[in-house]
Amino acid sequence: MAREFTSVGVVGLGTMGAGIVEVFARNGIDVVAVEISDGALERGRATLTGSTDRAVAKGKLAAADRDALLSRVTFAVGLDALHSVDLVIEAVPEHLDLKQRIFAELDRVCKPEAILATNTSSLSVTEISVATTRPNQVIGIHFFNPAPVMKLVEVVRTVVTSAEVVADVEALCERLGKVDVTINDRAGFIANALLFGYLNHAVSMFESRYATREDIDAAMKLGCGLPMGPLALMDLIGLDTAYEILDTMYRRGGRDRRHAPVPLIKQMVTAGLLGRKSGRGFYTYERPGSPVVVPDEQTPVAAESALADGARGIAKVGVVGSGTMATGIIEVFAKAGYEVVSVTRGAEKSAKVFEAVKTSLNKGVVRGKLSEADRDAALGRINWSATLEHLADVDLVVEAVVEELSVKKALFASLDEICKPGVVLATTTSSLPVIDVAMATQRPADVVGLHFFNPAPIMPLVEIVQTIRTSAETTATARAVCAALGKTGVVCGDRSGFIVNALLFPYLNDAVKMLEASYSTADDIDHAMKLGCGYPMGPFELLDVVGLDVSLAIQRELYLELREPGFAPAPLLEHLVTAGYLGRKSGRGFRDHTRR
Ligand SMILES: NC(=O)c1ccc[n+]([C@@H]2O[C@H](COP(=O)([O-])OP(=O)(O)OC[C@H]3O[C@@H](n4cnc5c(N)ncnc54)[C@H](O)[C@@H]3O)[C@@H](O)[C@H]2O)c1
Repeated sequence: MAREFTSVGVVGLGTMGAGIVEVFARNGIDVVAVEISDGALERGRATLTGSTDRAVAKGKLAAADRDALLSRVTFAVGLDALHSVDLVIEAVPEHLDLKQRIFAELDRVCKPEAILATNTSSLSVTEISVATTRPNQVIGIHFFNPAPVMKLVEVVRTVVTSAEVVADVEALCERLGKVDVTINDRAGFIANALLFGYLNHAVSMFESRYATREDIDAAMKLGCGLPMGPLALMDLIGLDTAYEILDTMYRRGGRDRRHAPVPLIKQMVTAGLLGRKSGRGFYTYERPGSPVVVPDEQTPVAAESALADGARGIAKVGVVGSGTMATGIIEVFAKAGYEVVSVTRGAEKSAKVFEAVKTSLNKGVVRGKLSEADRDAALGRINWSATLEHLADVDLVVEAVVEELSVKKALFASLDEICKPGVVLATTTSSLPVIDVAMATQRPADVVGLHFFNPAPIMPLVEIVQTIRTSAETTATARAVCAALGKTGVVCGDRSGFIVNALLFPYLNDAVKMLEASYSTADDIDHAMKLGCGYPMGPFELLDVVGLDVSLAIQRELYLELREPGFAPAPLLEHLVTAGYLGRKSGRGFRDHTRR
């Protein structure tokens, strides 16, 4: 029989603590909510009432249930109020000495059978537990932010946590409607170990002005379907908390440089820019604690004004290539009203592309997204050709041929001879340096990367890759074109992986390393990222969809260019590729797809 928990204590009512109080009280458990001072207590109470009032306003909670929920919570200053609770969850700032002091005090105050839990994200639960005389009753219960929303709880057992306590806490999580993954005590557990290297990397992109905050965040939301971008997430977590987590992970997790907090984070913390809780972090918020972003001096002017920045007018677009990307891009331009010249290597290929575009447009008609007349008009705007000479009078060329530098360079040299002056020449490469392609022409200022995502007609993101020779006019033109296509164009520098792949693949590679180290299972790691961070797919699901060979190639490129030791491809990934386990396309990757 699992232990009955009728009352719990929560220590610290900040970002996490207030949410944790809500989770327990919502599920019929009495809560003693403790803070360090009257002022902090009032802030915690206000967070709780604010959150429950919002739930009522949104129709997610009945007013009577809110009142019942609030009546289950007692507020107090000081730990003495916790003398009779069955379980305490500590959620004070991420400092080992502070947590140890609190645990020693809790050990003194709480009844002998009470379980003492920490919500730490990165500190050693074992080190916290030894501050008490009951380390076998100390456990990690790691909730995710915002606690009332996120389904995941990581239950962290140390080598001395008793099996009964683990079982009791697992049963409690189930009662709270949470999904738990139980793991050993390691820095960052599952989710943060995979998340924080990525967040820190995103901050370093911002710090080095590789891309703007809006573009970094839009890239990850629109390119990967994440619920929020990394910088907005840093603001939600709190920069002080994020700093402490990174710092601890760096020290405990093998001094991986990717966890060494980017200097900007410390500067922002020192300046009081803590994120949402202080009203300003990477973004500016309506007021402290508010999720509403308001414009500030970094807010970009609307994309429509790009024309005023010297964007060239584009009416006629050439698309070179006959693969998946070229086909999608032809459709996107034709649908958006551009006159398109498709150049392939022969009539047969053109016929294939024509059929593919027609089929795709027909799907739009069947789904009611496109009228038959619009479909016919889009098809009518496409001219089919097998000679580059037909690109002599286009305003923009988008190249989407095979991913081989020699082929692309030869093509750009030809385009340089054929195309009229002032044309923008774009490559869709996802891994080659755009500058190499640009320098195959006599007009590198007119060359830019336009990295569409697959499938191009559906994915809303385009990475606009600016080389050190790309002119401002060319970039402005690329921006205006993306806006006219109904896509979000994000501008970044010419580095391996651009924004999305550079942030995504090291995280996937880290997940493989975690599996390889037998820290957890593929299922639990996938769960952790989906339920703890709101990702649409877990890393192993995504790797199987993308293809392990493709993922390995991208990871190798990143490693070769950036020479970051942490980017070295996981040996397990290499082995699976060698064994022919490439993911869905070969029937087997991290999972066996033939049996489903
Ligand atoms: N922020 C996140 O996204 C997140 C997610 C999961 C876990 N965590 C972990 O949760 C813990 C709390 O983080 P947070 O972001 O909520 O921090 P926070 O700074 O928002 O809140 C900490 C609260 O603890 C209170 N406090 C400080 N000393 C205290 C004491 N002696 N007694 C009682 N209360 C005290 C503070 O007044 C403050 O309200 C950390 O261990 C953190 O790693 C944070």
